[in-house]
Amino acid sequence: MKRPSSCRPSPAQRELQEDTPISTHSRNPDFAQITAERYSRRDILRGGAGAIALGMLATTSLKPLDAQAATPKGFSFDFPPLKHGVDATHHVADGYRADILIRWGDKLLPGAPDFDPNTPSAAAQAMQFGYNNDFTGYLPLPLGSNNSSHGLLCVNHEYTNEEVMFPKGTPDDTRTETEMAAHGHSVVEVERGDSGLWRVVPDSTYARRLSANTTMRISGPAAGHPRLKTADDPTGTYVLGTLNNCAGGVTPWGTVLIAEENINYYFGGAPDTAHPEATNHDRMGIPGKGYDWYKTHKRFDIGLTPNEPNRFGWVVELDPYAPDSMPVKRTALGRFKHEGADNIVNKDGRVVVYCGDDQQFEYLYRFVTAGTYNPDDRKANMQLLDSGTLSAAQFHADGTLTWHPLVWGHGPLTAENGFKSQADVVIEARRAADLMLATPLDRPEDVGPNPKTGKVYVMLTNNSKRTDVQTDAVNSRAANLWGQIVELTAPDGDHAANTFRWDILVRCGNPADPATHAQWGADTGANGWFACPDNCAIDPEGRLWVCTDQGDHWHKTSGSADGVWAVETAGAARGTARMFFRVPVGAEMCGPTFTPDGETLFVAVQHAATDGTTDYAPFGRASTFADPATRWPDFRPGMPPRPSVVAITRKGGGKIA
Ligand code: FEO
Ligand code: CA
Ligand code: CA
Repeated sequence: MKRPSSCRPSPAQRELQEDTPISTHSRNPDFAQITAERYSRRDILRGGAGAIALGMLATTSLKPLDAQAATPKGFSFDFPPLKHGVDATHHVADGYRADILIRWGDKLLPGAPDFDPNTPSAAAQAMQFGYNNDFTGYLPLPLGSNNSSHGLLCVNHEYTNEEVMFPKGTPDDTRTETEMAAHGHSVVEVERGDSGLWRVVPDSTYARRLSANTTMRISGPAAGHPRLKTADDPTGTYVLGTLNNCAGGVTPWGTVLIAEENINYYFGGAPDTAHPEATNHDRMGIPGKGYDWYKTHKRFDIGLTPNEPNRFGWVVELDPYAPDSMPVKRTALGRFKHEGADNIVNKDGRVVVYCGDDQQFEYLYRFVTAGTYNPDDRKANMQLLDSGTLSAAQFHADGTLTWHPLVWGHGPLTAENGFKSQADVVIEARRAADLMLATPLDRPEDVGPNPKTGKVYVMLTNNSKRTDVQTDAVNSRAANLWGQIVELTAPDGDHAANTFRWDILVRCGNPADPATHAQWGADTGANGWFACPDNCAIDPEGRLWVCTDQGDHWHKTSGSADGVWAVETAGAARGTARMFFRVPVGAEMCGPTFTPDGETLFVAVQHAATDGTTDYAPFGRASTFADPATRWPDFRPGMPPRPSVVAITRKGGGKIA
């Protein structure tokens, strides 16, 4: 029997719900307070940069859309912007086309059966494209080339929405096994034909599905540690599956980094409060009981398998060019709710991976490899992510940021505080960051280093739990429903430096509403602002593109569906944005990635018909499989909404925007 969806809101919905557990136990001053201190009242009275940055002097006056259609001075994007809105389908700026590339259930592995939503089957799903496509990474074929018309599209499958995925009456065991098969990751060979349209290459030898059942190796400081050992894996070095794969990254040596995010939802059972892992589990919100897999798979029951959660919450590295390769969980990068794992080669050759921990009041992390990237030694590069220094960020009121190393024996990270080795530090990275006084943030999502400028963009999506006590009169972003984008500057382009500078790029929300204290560029129009930045991409020109995820609250935060926005980061139009693509009602915008030539933008549309459809006037109720708010993208009777990857190209050819 299908349970009411209210028993199990999706992780994305839960992220914004009032009962979202906050796991941070630190006493660290939060970012709102620090922002307030940095941009003090004195700055504002002086009319200084800080005051302008916060938009506190005056609300940006909105330009009508007609005026907005004219490209603002200094704005380097030239597409005609979309308007805010919400309806049953997707939209892209005039002059572009947006084509469905692959949908949930489409054939992927050779011999896969046709999609039949009315007879869910784990065996079929294991050969078909998975659910809720999130991160996409484009890796050219052949390896090492810049080919922008033939490559491997590597796609995360974050979670499942059973309410619109399964017909009524689907047996629980069928549902569970199909859900497990629909998670993970897909490797899809794609090519762009002479017509300019993309297609999936059928029967590709590269085609691959990872799921909640795929065997993976565990490497790095926590590999083989007793805290990772279970009855099924007494070595602590192999694990079945990867879960809640949100965003990710592509390495310079042609592997994909898959970020495990809300892994707490997969664990259930009766917690033993006296168990040595109890505090650790509590810090990660375990048991989250979002799924009931624990009822039939004892590894997800923490009462029976208390170490299993320690085998999730990592960054997984996959070599998509080697279809038989085993994915590896790289524990050196720490265990938390990773949004993504975008990275950059530092000027000294070390690789720097930036990771947000997407939960209210959680932290920003950085991993710097010990070794250096060698373009001529791919095999050696494959070991880079096993040794290096994980750090957590502390933001200071003077506009600087300190990276605190999470290294065993350093400062409080000692046996007295329960850290007996680096394995303990990475397993409980959050607690280590607490002790190092990292700054609790407004849900850090994607972090995008810009290789052209050396700047780093941090998406802080929102934080409904922020209270007035944690802010002050200058920084009135309590109950922050809109989020902000923070810009980091590495000194002299050194991403391994201990100290960075930080600034606010935009403070999201409607600038016409003084209560939001939004900050945008001066030419921001009535449709030129957004809320809840989530994923981001830097195009080959070094320009920033941002995807939004307002969740259930879209009607409160913007009244518009989510989408893709071009955001100017420098010059006269800094902080000015324009909407390029918009998703159907109830969907979330994910996974932006450009081909090397900048002519294609792949995006992932997650869970159409699910978020906030009761507030969508033409529908006004919660969606079900039989009665969804939209049947995007097929719009065929009886066909449920299907998460899909979309390929956006310019009509007649040429670079995006
Ligand atoms: Fe999976 Fe933070 O979104
Ligand atoms: Ca996300
Ligand atoms: Ca989000």
